[in-house]
Amino acid sequence: MDKSPLIAVLAGDGIGPEVVREAVACLREVIEDAEFVDAPVGGASYDLHGTPLTEATLDLAKRADAVLLGAVGGPKWEPLDFSVRPERALLGLREGLGLYANLRPAVVYPGLAAASSLRAEIVTGIDLLVVRELTGGIYFGKPRGVVMEHGERVGINTERYSESEIRRIAVCAFEVARKRRRKLTSVDKANVLEATELWREIVSTVGKAYPDVSLSHMYVDNCAMQLVRDPSQFDVIVTTNLFGDILSDEAAMLTGSIGMLASASLAGLGAPGGLYEPVHGSAPDIAGQGKANPLATILSAAMLLRYSLGREDAARRIEGAVARVLDAGLRTPDIAPRDATGAGRVTIVGTQEMGARVRKAMKEL
Ligand code: IPM
Ligand code: MG
Repeated sequence: MDKSPLIAVLAGDGIGPEVVREAVACLREVIEDAEFVDAPVGGASYDLHGTPLTEATLDLAKRADAVLLGAVGGPKWEPLDFSVRPERALLGLREGLGLYANLRPAVVYPGLAAASSLRAEIVTGIDLLVVRELTGGIYFGKPRGVVMEHGERVGINTERYSESEIRRIAVCAFEVARKRRRKLTSVDKANVLEATELWREIVSTVGKAYPDVSLSHMYVDNCAMQLVRDPSQFDVIVTTNLFGDILSDEAAMLTGSIGMLASASLAGLGAPGGLYEPVHGSAPDIAGQGKANPLATILSAAMLLRYSLGREDAARRIEGAVARVLDAGLRTPDIAPRDATGAGRVTIVGTQEMGARVRKAMKEL
């Protein structure tokens, strides 16, 4: 990148500002010339401007080389009308920036398998990636709404996918699978839903150009089951917006440490821009207490370096530093061992200390 990169920092609500602060500090370690510009989003934006996503914030996000986002939402804004709820900001950013590809890695870090609700031998070694279509399907399909019919209200949403929407997300999934273990599972409900029957057909067609990637198809209900039965069978999963929403939460929980999981939302691989955020939410119950886990946001910053700034070296330095602090036994409360046997080998630290230790490890790498 020849000019200094512009990074939009949308910290948002709850623990968002605390964890984003640590991630920005890590980015500053590796990109000396970046410009960081803060803007409000979510409930914080609603409180200031009466809308969760202002034109100014959307415009900044569009101009930026990448967006780092904390989290949005919280009980304070739950009574608000649907149209101005903090979550609408996420949908507005996705749509406004054309971020159709959502990459959600679920990884079990060495030493953290015991944090999973599944037996350690089932989850050890999980390293999968959910590629979720993010700007189509039932989230955006029309007609939608609540209408009157025969004297009663009827709620309507529409699942729809065009060939081109399916093709571009399939290409993205095959490309990332190629850089991993070359195994792609496309998840649909082709036995019931025509939209995903088309999905299956188009994904298969795209797959002909990727003979080196082994493609299989799975119904979503079976996939939900296979994820808890034998998660290590998966490498890359590609699926629709709604199925991806559900399966990525399931995959995240398998790892037992949702506080560790990063995500990227892209307008295609190699496209300019991109939004990076931790998979966890705003955790209002612990906001402001300095005990939130900043690692998911720090790892999102690593993805930002990799996918938006082309700085693979810097991305690896952050990821290596995170692995190192975990090896050293540092834990925020959410990833601390619950049983007394493990307690002696770890040190519980807060948000800032964890961030500082990651930066220290980065300097050593
Ligand atoms: C996610 C969230 C969002 C989604 C909500 C908050 C709109 O659950 O990013 O997975 O459903 O996409
Ligand atoms: Mg979700």
